Amino acid sequence: KYPKHIAIDGPAASGKSTVAEIVAHQIGYLFFDTGVMYRAVTLASLQRLNGVNDEKAVSDLAEAIDIDVRPPSVQDERKYDVLVDGVDVTWDIRKPEVDANVSRVSAYAGVRKAMTAQQRKIGERGQVVMVGRDIGTVVLPDAELKVFLDASVEERARRRYDEVQHRNQPEPYEQILQAMKKRDEIDSTRDLAPLCPADDAHILNTEGMTIQQVVDAILAFLR
Ligand code: C5P
Repeated sequence: KYPKHIAIDGPAASGKSTVAEIVAHQIGYLFFDTGVMYRAVTLASLQRLNGVNDEKAVSDLAEAIDIDVRPPSVQDERKYDVLVDGVDVTWDIRKPEVDANVSRVSAYAGVRKAMTAQQRKIGERGQVVMVGRDIGTVVLPDAELKVFLDASVEERARRRYDEVQHRNQPEPYEQILQAMKKRDEIDSTRDLAPLCPADDAHILNTEGMTIQQVVDAILAFLR
């Protein structure tokens, strides 16, 4: 009786993946975070092409690499394992270097084409909560429930700052804020599948809301 697809979009650190994982768990759906795929292509490009400037090379790499997301094999706060050609990159894709380059990579047409095709295939199975920037607009435009999460960039940067504090390489707040502003700007102004709510999305401003409150709001949309 739940919709086949639930699409959750929003800017960086809007709480999408945390909330979507809880919602998916509660209703027995698969949780799939599409940002992981763009991050994986970015990391692979940095490692193998020494940079992300060559659009053709990056697009070819996006077609060629095998990105696998599966249940966590290690208990270290991870929500899932991310493997690129069999190598565990779960934490490597969260590095500042990837943050700084991912928006560039995700604006390439060839990269989006390859990733969107794989995401639709995952969506075909149904019973999925899919998270990203363009799920409600491009990847699963027929999703029966679409939610767009938002919050001020300052609050989102604060959330990210708190999140990375206890990791090996914590970043200063100012640096996180500036990087996030830049990523928002590129993601929202690109030609292809820019970050924006679908016409039929429920827009939820999560400023000052707890994770549980956001989860409850989404569960209420389901009823
Ligand atoms: O959600 P996350 O912050 O991990 O996404 C990383 C980047 O991947 C975004 O800043 C965006 O450039 C790109 N992305 C995208 N489309 C999606 C998901 C992520 O372009 N559906």
